[in-house]
Amino acid sequence: MNITYLIKKDIEHTLIDIGYKNFCKPIIVSSKKTKLGHYQVNNLIKIANILKLDVYELAKKIILHIKKKNIYKKITFSQPGFINIFFCNHWISDQLETIFTSSRLGINRVVSKNIIIDYSSPNIAKEMHVGHLRSTIIGDVTVRALNFLGHNVIRANHIGDWGTQFGMLIAYLEKINVLKNYNLSLKELESYYCKAKKKYDIDKKFAEKSRKYVVKLQNGDQYCYSIWKKLVSITMLENYKIYNRLNVTLKKIHTIGESFYNTMLPDLITDLKNKKIAVQKNGVTIVFLKEFKNRLGQAMGVVIQKQDTGFLYSTIEIACLKYRYEKLCADRIIYYTDSRQSQHLIQAWTIAKKANYIPSHLLLEHHIFGMMLSKNKRPFKTRDGNNIKLKALLDEAIDRAINLIKKKKPHLPKKKLISLAEIIGISAVKYSDLSKNRNTNYVFNWDEMLSFEGNTAPYIQYAYTRISSIIKKSIIPIHQLKEKIILKKEIEITLAIKILEFEEIILLISQKGTPHILCKYLYQLATNFSHFYENCSILFSKKINTYKSRLKLSILTAKTLKKGLNILGIKIVKKM
Ligand code: ARG
Repeated sequence: MNITYLIKKDIEHTLIDIGYKNFCKPIIVSSKKTKLGHYQVNNLIKIANILKLDVYELAKKIILHIKKKNIYKKITFSQPGFINIFFCNHWISDQLETIFTSSRLGINRVVSKNIIIDYSSPNIAKEMHVGHLRSTIIGDVTVRALNFLGHNVIRANHIGDWGTQFGMLIAYLEKINVLKNYNLSLKELESYYCKAKKKYDIDKKFAEKSRKYVVKLQNGDQYCYSIWKKLVSITMLENYKIYNRLNVTLKKIHTIGESFYNTMLPDLITDLKNKKIAVQKNGVTIVFLKEFKNRLGQAMGVVIQKQDTGFLYSTIEIACLKYRYEKLCADRIIYYTDSRQSQHLIQAWTIAKKANYIPSHLLLEHHIFGMMLSKNKRPFKTRDGNNIKLKALLDEAIDRAINLIKKKKPHLPKKKLISLAEIIGISAVKYSDLSKNRNTNYVFNWDEMLSFEGNTAPYIQYAYTRISSIIKKSIIPIHQLKEKIILKKEIEITLAIKILEFEEIILLISQKGTPHILCKYLYQLATNFSHFYENCSILFSKKINTYKSRLKLSILTAKTLKKGLNILGIKIVKKM
């Protein structure tokens, strides 16, 4: 049930019915304390100002009119300018009933759109590091939420598998003679990559050879192509292991890397030149964008082809946009990429629009994210200043979880210990990241994320196992829970209203790609349940109707927690 939408529409209709036209959209939020209202209108002062009315007078009129609807139990005004809305218990129960009997928690499918999520996108010949964590897991939550709502989601892992670096790598691997029988690990490959780069900068001959190999590769030379393919496969094999451990839905079929667009680039350049969007200057092909200014205040130039005819990251980006619109019929594209790439993306979007490759109504969004910081608020790095590898981070999470579980359950058999620790450890890392607003930096803190208190994965996972065990102990099977939920105590109403809020949370995630809202919601839901459990007996209720009703509320809470965790890509455990 999308309650905010329902109230918003009611307020808007009421305002129109009582004779007003030009008002701003009412802002509706769920109230912190259900005693004071289930939901509230938050911007009444602003609406009154626009309509040049006294807030109290306006509130009175709205309340008088809207009360005619029988879903509201009570509507009140509170200073300095809020309208508080209480729903009738029978209406709440009816909504809960719909959720209870639905496999989709009563959430309707929306009109399906083709939405491309460009996320994770690591580079070849390098191990994934903590910098890739946010893009990978936040992007995956948006994928899951949009999928659940019924959209056609296209995952695009735009891996960095093309460019000059492959020339140096091939030249270097050839030079050190490892190409005959190369069972290289990704770690080794990355170290060769670093060495190749150093050599490229100081050794002219080597640099020349590298460039020759790039051109050969771009032209489809068999020798270079087969080595390149192997390098991609070594890297991606490791990355899929990481995705798997992270419970992220990216698979091989979702990889559409930079190389995929290679054959489209020559025509693209010709077309941009024909359309007079790109020009030739000092041997390079360049697009001048007056929308962007360089340091001298002149139109900024975006190079799309170099002197040696090599293409650039931007060229590929434009081709990619064209492909995504023409071939994949995208209605919306969301990029989960470092905020430093904002300008690059906007420039590519601008060029693609100028060339009519994409229409102006295509929704393009760059969902940026902040950095992970260490305790001293500096970028989260190893002691020697290098990026922390994602694999090492996940290994440490599991080690820490093993120690934690061992303290609580010293006799747990080793196999069970490890499999539990894998879930607890990795969920903790994921959840601690997802629960922070993606727009800001956050401090990475092991102790906090593995705590059983607060807005953490262990807290929510534990809450879920506890509710499940209550449900399991019940003597009444689910199919016998036919009667509607009876809401008497304030605590029951609070929990019920929270359950109803789930749909609007999922809709918000689908619009904004902000998983922290869902984490906060699940935390509140789990806390509300815990208050309910402490104050209302469930399995010890004397009356059978109360027993059934409370059991039903527990089942609904469990269902919602489970779906919420599923959308976050966090696994549940049977026992903790
Ligand atoms: N491979 C790039 C990097 O590691 C990210 C690619 C993001 N996606 C895109 N369409 N540019 O920085």
